[in-house]
Amino acid sequence: MSSPSELIFFVNGKKVVEKNADPEEVLLSFLRRRAGLTGTKYGCGSGGCGACTVMVSRYSHHQARVVHYTVNACLQQIVTLHCAAVVTVEGIGSTKTKLHPVQERIAKAHGSQCGFCTPGMVMSMYTLLRNKPRPSMEDIREALGGNICRCTGYRPIIDGFKTFCDSETSACCQSGGGGKCCMENGIEGSKSLNSEESDISEELFPMDDLLPLDPSQDLIFPPELLIMEKKLSGEALYFQGQRVNLVAPSELSHLLELKAEHPSAPLVVGNTTIGPEMLLKGVHHPLLVYVGRIPELSAVTWGENGVTVGAACSLSTLKEELERAVSEMEESRTRGYRALLQTLQCLAAKQIRNMATIGGNLLSANPKYDLSSVSAAVGCTLHVASKDGTRDIPFNEKLFTAFGKTALRPNEVLLSINIPCSKPWEFVAAYRQAQRREFAFSIVNAGMKVVIREGTDIVESLNIYYGGVGPTLVRPGRTCQQLVGRLLTEACHFLKEDVDVSPSIHGGKGEYRKSLVFSFFFKFYMQVVLEMGERGVSDIDLPLEYLSALKPFKNEAPQGQQSYQLVSEAQPSVDPVGRPSMHQSAFQQATGEAKYYDDLPPVEGELFIFMVTSTRAHAKITNVDPSEALEMPGVVTVVSAGDVPGANVRLWFNNPEELFATEEIVCAVVAESREQARRAAQKVQVTYQDLLPVFFTIEDAIKHESYFEPKRKVERGDVDEALKTAECILEDEIYMGGQEHFYMETQGLIAVPRGENEEMDLFVSTQHGAFTQELVGMALGIESNKITCHVKRLGGGFGGKVMKIASLSAITAVAAHKTGKAVRCCLDRGDDMLITGGRHPFLGKYKVGYNSDGTIVAADIIYYSNGGCTLDESSFIMDKAILHMDNGYKIPNLRGRGVVCKTYLPSNTAFRGFGGPQGLMVIESVLHEVAVRCGLPPEKVRDVNMYREELSYTHYKQPFCPTSMVRCWDECLDRADYEDRLRAIQLFNSSNRWKKRGIAAVPQKFGVGFSKGFYNQGASLVNIFKDGSVLVTHGGTEMGQGIHTKAIQIASRVLKVPMSSIFIKETCTGNVPNAAPSAASFGTDAVGMAVKDACEKLMRRLKPLMEANPKNTWKQWASDAFFQKISLSATGFFMGPATNVDWEKGEGQAYYYFTYGACCSEVEIDCLTGDHKNIRTDIVMDVGKSINPALDIGQVEGGFVQGVGLYTIEELQFSPDGVLMTRGPSQYKVPSLCDVPAEFNVHLLANSENPHAIYLSKGIGEPPVFFASTLFFAIKAAIAEARKEKGLGDTFPLSSPATAEKIRMACQDQFTEMAIGGYHHVRQEGALLLSLISDGRDGDSVVHSGVSVLGPQGDKSGLVYRR
Ligand SMILES: Cc1cc2nc3c(=O)[nH]c(=O)nc-3n(C[C@H](O)[C@H](O)[C@H](O)COP(=O)(O)OP(=O)(O)OC[C@H]3O[C@@H](n4cnc5c(N)ncnc54)[C@H](O)[C@@H]3O)c2cc1C
Ligand code: FES
Ligand code: FES
Repeated sequence: MSSPSELIFFVNGKKVVEKNADPEEVLLSFLRRRAGLTGTKYGCGSGGCGACTVMVSRYSHHQARVVHYTVNACLQQIVTLHCAAVVTVEGIGSTKTKLHPVQERIAKAHGSQCGFCTPGMVMSMYTLLRNKPRPSMEDIREALGGNICRCTGYRPIIDGFKTFCDSETSACCQSGGGGKCCMENGIEGSKSLNSEESDISEELFPMDDLLPLDPSQDLIFPPELLIMEKKLSGEALYFQGQRVNLVAPSELSHLLELKAEHPSAPLVVGNTTIGPEMLLKGVHHPLLVYVGRIPELSAVTWGENGVTVGAACSLSTLKEELERAVSEMEESRTRGYRALLQTLQCLAAKQIRNMATIGGNLLSANPKYDLSSVSAAVGCTLHVASKDGTRDIPFNEKLFTAFGKTALRPNEVLLSINIPCSKPWEFVAAYRQAQRREFAFSIVNAGMKVVIREGTDIVESLNIYYGGVGPTLVRPGRTCQQLVGRLLTEACHFLKEDVDVSPSIHGGKGEYRKSLVFSFFFKFYMQVVLEMGERGVSDIDLPLEYLSALKPFKNEAPQGQQSYQLVSEAQPSVDPVGRPSMHQSAFQQATGEAKYYDDLPPVEGELFIFMVTSTRAHAKITNVDPSEALEMPGVVTVVSAGDVPGANVRLWFNNPEELFATEEIVCAVVAESREQARRAAQKVQVTYQDLLPVFFTIEDAIKHESYFEPKRKVERGDVDEALKTAECILEDEIYMGGQEHFYMETQGLIAVPRGENEEMDLFVSTQHGAFTQELVGMALGIESNKITCHVKRLGGGFGGKVMKIASLSAITAVAAHKTGKAVRCCLDRGDDMLITGGRHPFLGKYKVGYNSDGTIVAADIIYYSNGGCTLDESSFIMDKAILHMDNGYKIPNLRGRGVVCKTYLPSNTAFRGFGGPQGLMVIESVLHEVAVRCGLPPEKVRDVNMYREELSYTHYKQPFCPTSMVRCWDECLDRADYEDRLRAIQLFNSSNRWKKRGIAAVPQKFGVGFSKGFYNQGASLVNIFKDGSVLVTHGGTEMGQGIHTKAIQIASRVLKVPMSSIFIKETCTGNVPNAAPSAASFGTDAVGMAVKDACEKLMRRLKPLMEANPKNTWKQWASDAFFQKISLSATGFFMGPATNVDWEKGEGQAYYYFTYGACCSEVEIDCLTGDHKNIRTDIVMDVGKSINPALDIGQVEGGFVQGVGLYTIEELQFSPDGVLMTRGPSQYKVPSLCDVPAEFNVHLLANSENPHAIYLSKGIGEPPVFFASTLFFAIKAAIAEARKEKGLGDTFPLSSPATAEKIRMACQDQFTEMAIGGYHHVRQEGALLLSLISDGRDGDSVVHSGVSVLGPQGDKSGLVYRR
């Protein structure tokens, strides 16, 4: 290899010259660790979250201009940035100079909660504006599709950014936006209850003083790069790393030589396949050849027969070219292009499409990649070249020899792909179904083309290709061949024989995949029949009720209304309590200035720790051999149980768990760099002796009677007696899967020994600093007064950063103690998902007695949760599930028993709602099923059973008043127009066969506070300085919920100083000791009261000065106080109520008070694919008198969207050996923008006051998660409608989450029957598809020559599509 080239690129206008650039170094680590630009975040390291989004600009020879595009910095190799300019969030604006309008608007619109996703969001939007200063909503939706936010629910981000759109496309007429009427847009908005609502506001942020978009503020493309780019073309670049070399030829001949010399060296362009393989799977390629600089590979040429696209063209370039063609060319010539475009729209996300190339997609030979099936169907041709010459290869299944392997010769490279135009009698379509509609790999994809003999309905050729049904691209050859000269109607018969999906297919879901094979073809068939009908060559009547099956769901940016009650006019304008105030650090978060633990600069000599995790579910570790790891470069030591100077335990309510354990963490490697530690950890040899039994599910735990203690029971009335009197009995069960927290910031910390008195500081991402401090002290054998935990902020927590982070901290502290150096621990996303546990799966088995009017007289429910291998918080979570089992219903005889199962899965832990969403789900299932059996709308049954008396009692005898809940329920159904929409849905369902809608509503009563009463306390420290500035500290941690902002509002009210003079720096165990965790929706209640208490003390001390000199300023009073020796520092304390439950008696005052609400959602499902769309959600929430309506609405929306994941998408998968398979965003899908209901309305209940909490407010963090169960029940209702079409009953099992697979398989029909092999109803050849069209009613059809005429009974109410 020649001598290394000098790498030159620009970052934020500054030139970077790297003499020894390493091909393994990605832009993200360069920015964060070497350029000190920590605004760009690590969320997953695999292109799946968008937290690392930056803008790259470079001169495009092809387009003869500078182009700007987003990339995922975690996959962008720096060596491929030669001559490029990178702009990060720090490069566009700052709080010190000037904010960029994008930064300002996301902050002001409350679009930044924990802030970890915010820089990525900002850069996606900024790049869009660089290319299109007046974007449409669709542009924004597309630009943000690859940015995941786990906090906000996306709506406020969209609201902030839509202010850049033309008012035509963005704002709602109803909200004074001056845009197109909502009704015309198909958005009806929540019905407003206008009576005495003049004090109701829908404005969450002021629109009048926003910074204008000023392109002159943008960094210009460095002229030096333009000159260099021209000068350099022709020169190859060479980069030599420690383990990997990269050559970047600029001439084709050189590339071909390289390929001949190094046939096994992969070609790389976007690095979106090779990168994750190398980074996450440890695949090692000593040499890479970058082909992005070769003009022939980047050219796009249009000819008579179509377009030829260079192999190194990005998918975005391909998409733009095809969009242009479709808008300019005749429709009949662009059918293939439309099919490709339809695929490209949902393929990955904008950032990935900007990086990924068409050549890389096709030649990765991965059947879940989408382009192969449609390209093969369209009839593309590959132009390949080698030193021996060029050749053209038809793109079809023969190209793929095995998973990841192609038939290209080792010395060949792909030059370009020819994509032909279609011809008049060609019909082309593409289909895909994924776990999530956008930004997810397809489960099955398909491309189909049929050529029909002109003027007939006879097949001339048929090309069908499937991806995702085998290890390579599959062409059902028999089907395609045998249909030539015949009719399309016969295809399904052949397909059944032709496509064999192995039950052991990678990724599972065999029957679902096979169902999709038929469903996709059926859709294609209908599409072709329709188009042929339009041309008058087919007499097949496609019933009108089938047509909606042909329309894919449209992804839309969410819109809606949010309303809250204004503060009274009597409230002084300077008092911020009750007003929508922006998150305290929103500007810092939007500019990337906000510091998270891993953004702190390295401490001199800092080391890194990487955990070695157990690969067995249940085994004894017989030997740990770290010798190979210790030999590796940079490795300093390995720490294990023997190194723990104190106790190797995590003590939790008398349940000790090991730190270095026989289960998850075996030992840990400490090295000079992260990469060294990671690589060395893989070399630690651990020998196991497997132990039996090993089981993972609740069912198996029940069989083995493997339970943790204590078991719980609560009973009201006499269940057994009442069951005898009930008119009907129902026995059933509902299973609900677990959930991964997927906070955007993975867990970690920096432990810094101070070198004196064994003191140690920890900068840690924890929700419970005091517990971390205590545990570190125990592990080190040091008292807590020498250990200080600092928590600036968390990039999301959701309950996941209470327990495990304490163990990680203790292990890291042991390493710091042993080495005497600062040690940093940052979990990779995969390890975070593996080690830290998640929400508990639950199984609820119930026996219910009810009457035919839907009244439930008795319910006996046993809850089983899957606690995993250790108890952790499982028993408290079970308590909460049982305490919430009555929800809003007065079931007179109610018994709940709770059992935590011990299995060999990683231990589960707290998650927002803490068992509430599971407990509530079971009772709502009971109500739903009873309603179905009574033939009543479920909402009527809910209504009939609801608590109504002003003095009601829970099943554990806690008194409460349900009036607010009933108000929320009534208002929600009213605002949602429930009755009218139910009728509209019934009409829709009767006139659509393959799309069905459902609607569901639930009320909610959610207990706030810890049932472990001693946790209900809060403390604060408020210091006033001589200059009048105020520093507040309290025990709560800021993780996006806005606890600091609310604390400042409270301090501002009491001290009567503006919020801008009050600051909260961090949460620190040295300032406020022994704090309770920030959890249980109780944070603001506890610390708010404590801050108020401290401020009131200070005001009492200052009162004499104020009265003596009433005209003085605050600053003068503060200064006077100092000179008069009045203390300006006060602690505040809040002793919360004595909540407790006597579990012997099953009664007590479990909660401080209840937060109430109601939610109504409507969904539409695609019965053929299992896809669903969340059409509309209305929530009415009682938060008492909100302290900050913007933050509270943010919590409602964010919690709801997290629930969308819980109840409909997020599915953890384990191997048969109990190994977690879903370890990153590629396999585990959390809701993205496309999952938010298209219309999403949130209203805070007016005229509600809660005398129990600070300023009459209520806690709100957890309750909204459960509201997304409405989607589950609406889906279930829609499935029932689909089943009715087949004459199936409307009682059927459906477990949560209601994934696409489950929806599809529950909508049983001919296709699912064929897929599961139960289809014996072989009809006369040629009639199968027709019979499907007449849907089992073919007895009434006359079938001749492939033409069907529906008889009178087949024609439902005249709804047959006739031409
Ligand atoms: C988060 C994420 C989401 C994704 N979602 C989807 C999705 O929904 N649908 C989908 O289809 N894909 C998806 N992908 C895959 C993505 O489309 C492919 O990784 C991409 O197209 C590969 O292109 P690349 O330039 O990055 O390839 P690279 O990683 O650079 O290279 C990939 C392979 O192609 C070979 N290769 C590349 N160019 C040539 C050439 N000219 N001649 C010979 N061989 C060549 C290389 O040798 C290498 O083996 C996703 C990827 C990520 C990271
Ligand atoms: S960190 Fe790059 S996409 Fe997640
Ligand atoms: S604000 Fe988006 S992830 Fe927290």
